Amino acid sequence: MEKKITIAIDGFSSTGKSTVAKRLAKELGYIYVDTGAMYRAVTLYMMRKVFVSKGNFDKEAIIRHLPFVSLKFEFNDDLGHGEIYLNEENVEKEIRYMEVSEQVSKVSAIPEVRKKLVEQQQEMGKNKGVVMDGRDIGTVVFPDAELKIFMTASTETRAQRRYDELKERGDEVEFDDVLKNVKDRDFMDSTRDDSPLIMADDAIEFDNSKLGLEEQFDKILKIAKDKITEVNS
Ligand code: DC
Repeated sequence: MEKKITIAIDGFSSTGKSTVAKRLAKELGYIYVDTGAMYRAVTLYMMRKVFVSKGNFDKEAIIRHLPFVSLKFEFNDDLGHGEIYLNEENVEKEIRYMEVSEQVSKVSAIPEVRKKLVEQQQEMGKNKGVVMDGRDIGTVVFPDAELKIFMTASTETRAQRRYDELKERGDEVEFDDVLKNVKDRDFMDSTRDDSPLIMADDAIEFDNSKLGLEEQFDKILKIAKDKITEVNS
């Protein structure tokens, strides 16, 4: 039987990681794990408890309430990928709101939050055959992943993509606010003390600023298939 590998896809926000990762997992018959959704779901829980809001950030309360946060992914046959559940509630849509995006980098910088989620991610990927996207997958969660891709794209390209995505969903947002959020998160995600976003030494850097979805996917699929062949030879 063909040996499965672990594929880590890291990079800044809105680089299109999840679109590629989802499709790659489907094509290879692997499990897809959106780790950003996990940090977003924890953030949503803490926002509902009002431990996090504009001008308020109660780190102690967040840490104290972590044990009450239970996360899981359930496969949605119609969509062809998993959706995240926070304490049995499907929060896939709510976690993408701008209000959550504005708070998630702060919550995900808390070491206790990271520890809990990293453990769960390692458990989900322990049998390999997984495509996991995030910020620290190739550096912290699976430093031994056989394939690590680090996605990049210009800030403006990424903000435009996120803006189009939010608009398409009917959200009332301004481009400048989205651009600011992308920049703020880049800064916070890459300068935090615990597991900052950095490219692993053995990752392949993949700039998709000028690539269409199909072209991008074809290239990444080829990289993945070549790696699987190499591992199995
Ligand atoms: O991928 P995303 O934009 O949905 O992620 C939301 C936030 O979660 C991101 O700004 C930083 C954090 N995150 C993280 O710290 N580590 C990960 N592995 C994934 C996401």
